[in-house]
Amino acid sequence: MRRDSGSNMGLMRVKKSNELATLILFALLLLCYGVGNGRCTTVHENSVDLHALLKFKQGITSDPNSALSNWNTSIHFCRWNGINCNMTKRAWRVTGLNLTSKGLSGQISSSLGNLTFLRKLDLNHNSLIGPLPRLNNLQKLEVLYLHQNRLHGIIPDGLTNCSSLSYLDLSRNNLTGVIPPTIGNLSSLVGLSLSQNNLNGIIPQALGKIATLYFVDLSENRLNGRIPDEFWQLQNIRVLYLNQNSLSGGLPQSLPNMSSLFQLALTENMLGNTLPSNIGDALPNLQLLYLGANMFEGNIPDSIGNASQLQELDLKLNHFSGHIPSSLGKLSRMSYLNLEQNKLEANDTEGWEFFHALANCTLLGGFSLSRNQLQGVIPNSIGNFSENLQYVLMAGNKLSGTVPPSIGKLHDLIQLSLDENNLTGTIEDWIGNFTKLQRLNLQMNNFVGTIPPYISNLTQLVFLSIAKNEFTGFIPPSWAGLQSLQTLNLGHNNLQGSIPTEFGNLKQLLQLELSSNKFNGEIP
Ligand SMILES: *[C@@H]1O[C@H](CO)[C@@H](O)[C@H](O)[C@H]1NC(C)=O
Ligand SMILES: *[C@@H]1O[C@H](CO)[C@@H](O)[C@H](O)[C@H]1NC(C)=O
Ligand SMILES: *[C@@H]1O[C@H](CO)[C@@H](O)[C@H](O)[C@H]1NC(C)=O
Ligand SMILES: *[C@@H]1O[C@H](CO)[C@@H](O)[C@H](O)[C@H]1NC(C)=O
Ligand SMILES: *[C@@H]1O[C@H](CO)[C@@H](O)[C@H](O)[C@H]1NC(C)=O
Ligand SMILES: *[C@@H]1O[C@H](CO)[C@@H](O)[C@H](O)[C@H]1NC(C)=O
Ligand SMILES: *[C@@H]1O[C@H](CO)[C@@H](O)[C@H](O)[C@H]1NC(C)=O
Ligand SMILES: *[C@@H]1O[C@H](CO)[C@@H](O)[C@H](O)[C@H]1NC(C)=O
Ligand SMILES: *[C@@H]1O[C@H](CO)[C@@H](O)[C@H](O)[C@H]1NC(C)=O
Ligand SMILES: *[C@@H]1O[C@H](CO)[C@@H](O)[C@H](O)[C@H]1NC(C)=O
Ligand SMILES: *[C@@H]1O[C@H](CO)[C@@H](O)[C@H](O)[C@H]1NC(C)=O
Ligand SMILES: *[C@@H]1O[C@H](CO)[C@@H](O)[C@H](O)[C@H]1NC(C)=O
Repeated sequence: MRRDSGSNMGLMRVKKSNELATLILFALLLLCYGVGNGRCTTVHENSVDLHALLKFKQGITSDPNSALSNWNTSIHFCRWNGINCNMTKRAWRVTGLNLTSKGLSGQISSSLGNLTFLRKLDLNHNSLIGPLPRLNNLQKLEVLYLHQNRLHGIIPDGLTNCSSLSYLDLSRNNLTGVIPPTIGNLSSLVGLSLSQNNLNGIIPQALGKIATLYFVDLSENRLNGRIPDEFWQLQNIRVLYLNQNSLSGGLPQSLPNMSSLFQLALTENMLGNTLPSNIGDALPNLQLLYLGANMFEGNIPDSIGNASQLQELDLKLNHFSGHIPSSLGKLSRMSYLNLEQNKLEANDTEGWEFFHALANCTLLGGFSLSRNQLQGVIPNSIGNFSENLQYVLMAGNKLSGTVPPSIGKLHDLIQLSLDENNLTGTIEDWIGNFTKLQRLNLQMNNFVGTIPPYISNLTQLVFLSIAKNEFTGFIPPSWAGLQSLQTLNLGHNNLQGSIPTEFGNLKQLLQLELSSNKFNGEIP
């Protein structure tokens, strides 16, 4: 029932019931709320709600948007901004308090713990400070949203007495201490977010026993210990974010079927060991898998290709070794693949099969294979890759030979990083096709030949480094089009002639490196 129609509806009901006692009570209530004197505060339990709200208002030190402007006793509290009520046992009781994004400062009064009919409490996006209020008695509370405030202190055990809680969001505060082990008492919990706090200690095992859990975000805390095995048994879990903590241990070597799981993020922990070999079979609906910046090792399991819904796969900064599985080519929805900084291998005779297969991923927008142990030439099949490809990062490997000119088919490239390899040959066959390129890094290779004049067609370039190669000839004069250029590094080549005066028109330029060439003449 909405607050704006609440009182009138109640009046009608009371009249219908036609009970003398009710009428008397109602008259008293009218007196109480209509006139606003203090005499009737003991009349009925709903005066408890009135007082709890007034006390809450007292705790608010700043209300820049006048959200509480009509919170005074000349108006029934059920009509106050942000309040929802319901008629119960002939009394109006507060069932909802919603003051999200009102810019409120101050403390949340524990008087809210007296609103025993409260179902939804939403104070998201304010600047409330202090400890969490004592809400132990709120047996009907289903929703508690305190996201993005400035709360500190611990999460009191007593909160887990609110046994109807379905959605609990305390994220983006400065809460400390542990996740109460009694959290398992919240047996109806569906959504839990405690992310971006300062929580430490372990993830309670009991949390993994709440079968209703659908969304769990504990990211960006200081949680340690293992991920409880129970988590992998949660039959309804759809989203699990445990990234940016200090979790250790690993994943079970054989994952149970978790067909409910859509998103799994474990980035930036200390998780290790090998991945379960059936990972892709057990997660048939997974769309996002983020395991980067951990200590995972061994092969990337072939079964990953069976997670047919996968869109984003991030395994960067681990110790994965061996060949990259060709089964990646089965991931027809994949848009993002990051395998950088591992120990993945390929050479001229084997290991590049995956690369041909990736051409099947027609939605692929970018991949990084940088800083692995890939040897040999870049396969010609790069020309068969998705034309949607925007990011190609293969720096810091042992790539050799010439870059296949077929790369020029990737018209949408925004970033091409081939630096720190042993690539040779000229760039003139393909460079002019990348008219959307913003970052081009070819430094530390053995490229030869001249800088083609149509480099000036790359008008979006922000970063250009061809340093530490064997480029020869003159700097083409036509740089005026490169108006976005911020970094230009031509150092350590065999370039000669004069420095084009056009460089002076590159207004965004922050860094210019021309050293160790054979330039002459004046600096313009
Ligand atoms: C109570 O709030 C109403 C609505 O904002 C306002 O018109 C009225 O003057 C206020 N009464 C008192 C006593 O502050
Ligand atoms: C209001 O009360 C009615 C009847 O007691 C109940 O069915 C309904 O769920 C209540 N609504 C809320 C929001 O508490
Ligand atoms: C609180 O109100 C905002 C907008 O006024 C709404 O988006 C939000 O869903 C409400 N919160 C709850 C828990 O219903
Ligand atoms: C809760 O209500 C009781 C009266 O029923 C009152 O004595 C008590 O102070 C209230 N608690 C808080 C924290 O306001
Ligand atoms: C839990 O709530 C019940 C019902 O309101 C109450 O009797 C009990 O004291 C509460 N327990 C704690 C630990 O607050
Ligand atoms: C968060 O709390 C910690 C410890 O209580 C304190 O050192 C830190 O300054 C607080 N951070 C913010 C942003 O309030
Ligand atoms: C996993 O569970 C889903 C739904 O319960 C089922 O459709 C699927 O066949 C199961 N997959 C495996 C490999 O057991
Ligand atoms: C890629 O697609 C081709 C045909 O379109 C198919 O023959 C090949 O098996 C596919 N590769 C993978 C790894 O799915
Ligand atoms: C390629 O790698 C395989 C396995 O690591 C190795 O047996 C083979 O000798 C390598 N071939 C070349 C040409 O390096
Ligand atoms: C470069 O682009 C031009 C014009 O779109 C196209 O004709 C040419 O085939 C492209 N080069 C390569 C290697 O795809
Ligand atoms: C780089 O390639 C050249 C041939 O182009 C070869 O002579 C040289 O040994 C290679 N260097 C490394 C470090 O592989
Ligand atoms: C560079 O752009 C000019 C005109 O903008 C065009 O005529 C020329 O073909 C382009 N060069 C290359 C290599 O794409």
